[in-house]
Amino acid sequence: MNDNALEQLSDRLGGIAYGGDYNPEQWPREVWEEDVRLMREAGVNLVTVGVFSWAFLEPSPGTYEFGLLDEVMDLLHANGIAVDLATATASPPPWFSLRHPEALPVTADGVRLTHGSRQTFCPSSPAYAEAAGRLTERIVERYRDHPALVLWHLHNEWGNHNAHCFCDISAEAFRDWLRQRYGGLDGLNEAWGTAFWSQRYGDWAEVMPPRATAAVANPTQQLDHWRFSSDALLGLHRREAEIVRRLSPGVPLTTNLLVTLEKKVDGFAFAEECDFVSVDQYLTAADPEAHIGLSLDADLARGMGGGAPWLLMEHSTSAVNWQPRNVAKTPGQMRRNSLAHVARGADGVLYFQWRQSRAGAEKWHSAMLPHGGTDTKTWREVTALGRDLKALAEVRGARVVSDVALLFDWNAWWALEMDATPSRDLRYLDLVRAWYEALWSLGVTCDLVHPGSDLSGYRLVLVPSLSLTSDADAAALNGFVADGGHAAVGFFSGVVDEHDHVRLGGHPGAYRDMLGIRVDEFFPLRESETVRLSDGSRASLWTELVEPRGAETVLSFAADPSCGGPVPGHPAVTRHGHGDGVSWYVATRPEADALRGLLARVCREAGVTAAAEVPAGVEAVRRRGPDATYLFLINHSPRDVSVPAAGTDLLSGATADGGVVVRAGDVAVIREHGAPPAGR
Ligand code: GAL
Repeated sequence: MNDNALEQLSDRLGGIAYGGDYNPEQWPREVWEEDVRLMREAGVNLVTVGVFSWAFLEPSPGTYEFGLLDEVMDLLHANGIAVDLATATASPPPWFSLRHPEALPVTADGVRLTHGSRQTFCPSSPAYAEAAGRLTERIVERYRDHPALVLWHLHNEWGNHNAHCFCDISAEAFRDWLRQRYGGLDGLNEAWGTAFWSQRYGDWAEVMPPRATAAVANPTQQLDHWRFSSDALLGLHRREAEIVRRLSPGVPLTTNLLVTLEKKVDGFAFAEECDFVSVDQYLTAADPEAHIGLSLDADLARGMGGGAPWLLMEHSTSAVNWQPRNVAKTPGQMRRNSLAHVARGADGVLYFQWRQSRAGAEKWHSAMLPHGGTDTKTWREVTALGRDLKALAEVRGARVVSDVALLFDWNAWWALEMDATPSRDLRYLDLVRAWYEALWSLGVTCDLVHPGSDLSGYRLVLVPSLSLTSDADAAALNGFVADGGHAAVGFFSGVVDEHDHVRLGGHPGAYRDMLGIRVDEFFPLRESETVRLSDGSRASLWTELVEPRGAETVLSFAADPSCGGPVPGHPAVTRHGHGDGVSWYVATRPEADALRGLLARVCREAGVTAAAEVPAGVEAVRRRGPDATYLFLINHSPRDVSVPAAGTDLLSGATADGGVVVRAGDVAVIREHGAPPAGR
């Protein structure tokens, strides 16, 4: 990471970056002139070029044709539009797979995939690595001094479609990775627990990726394969990064990460290998409160970059085309979505894509310039947003500072969703989202951070779900509480170590002492079963037999066996003073209101406050710059609301002396008067 890289980039652009993926190869030359004219009209200052251009740039092996890209780069520059130039390695052309059939990926069932879509390559293929490396070198050498170039865009969404390959080449690479990790077979046998079901390995040739098998595949083998696959892609990323840094020092590089869209690669590991974090975020149409999922992703993007501003590399102006039902955005929704990212630290707002395609797999995916041209709702909103972002230029670089960390970990996500756990209803994102949502509706901002990060700057650490945790990460949380921090931990956290081996002596092994409890047995609930808690609220999904060992019981499962579930009268929520701090344990999934009430109490005790007192459905986040603070107020509700604030609304120009009215569906960004408020 390079803390200044994004700041320098936005200084060069003179404000917040605005634009999207630009794919001129899909259009005749005369359309390009219209493109740049309309980009200027919309206030576009940055476009991503060349993401899927490999077949144009290298039409046959070793033959490079840069005429098209030369023209595009010059045209953009002449129109004052900067370029985030891709290494173009995301979609190898058909000639590549005919030449290197062994580089095509193989599924766990043994099916070899073929070209005809994108990302059809095996991440461990030396042929792919060489071809991608050669292409990257040629592109970087040619454009490193081009005046339009401001950023290198490595690949595209590493591993989105091809993270896991089970071919023989991958199997060999997996063995190498395991040798590095465990040294010898003894270490591997121990870590994978191969004494179970007669799986002991006596020769490396016997060790396989978790290909389709008769019963439940070894969980640690599966877990290590997730890790290996993420690392294999990281190796390709590093290879491209090395070329870019060697040939084009001084121009920053990034790659568009998937945040929670896919669980395939460890986002924290990739973030470390970029100059700054960029992410792609798409709403889940089936989620009635998808804007909360958006905020979660944005807070994760910020957490991946250690709190620094980041770039929203892709989102959509309206509908996508890859969900079962692709719901279009209602008027004003795109603006709220885009500005919510800015509120949470984005210094750039880019879309997939500039001009909606006529042909191909994504022709029904929205874009900045729709099929209908400029006389459309989307185009009018795109140009209006361009003006809004200009008005927010001074916000760039300002930081969102949070008192709360929410621990997020891809390893724990992989481990929780493996086969043969106590309940298949344990879905990582659902568990995280429930706690995040409670906090969101309290107006409290949190950073989603890796469990191994420095927690000392936070007042409160939330652990909604972390079944797998390493000894070191567990020690960090225990130390944080002992030193005076507050923490709240959700059920089935801290139960296994990094090899997915159970921590013995009563659950949750990693946090037992810190929490002052011991869990004797899990009692997961049946699908749609609910239980009542002692305060009359309801809970679902999970219960367990908790024995207090120093902790006080805050709430219990109702004592009446007809509604108290499998462990009536036993603790459901506990609180424990540990060292100088306080730790809470939540042994079930409380309904939304109850969880919000509980976390409100946890926040209060920890001294955590909201950014502003806001009514339901209104999002409030503060960014702090060196000279001013900016309070973003986003009204997702159908009602006009009044929020206490004093300052100037950068979007409307209006001044507010004690209260600001934010109309239904509208957004205000208040440059606050006076001393920066204490609330985060
Ligand atoms: C992203 C991808 C883009 C485009 C977009 C559509 O995953 O990077 O190329 O496919 O999705 O939503």
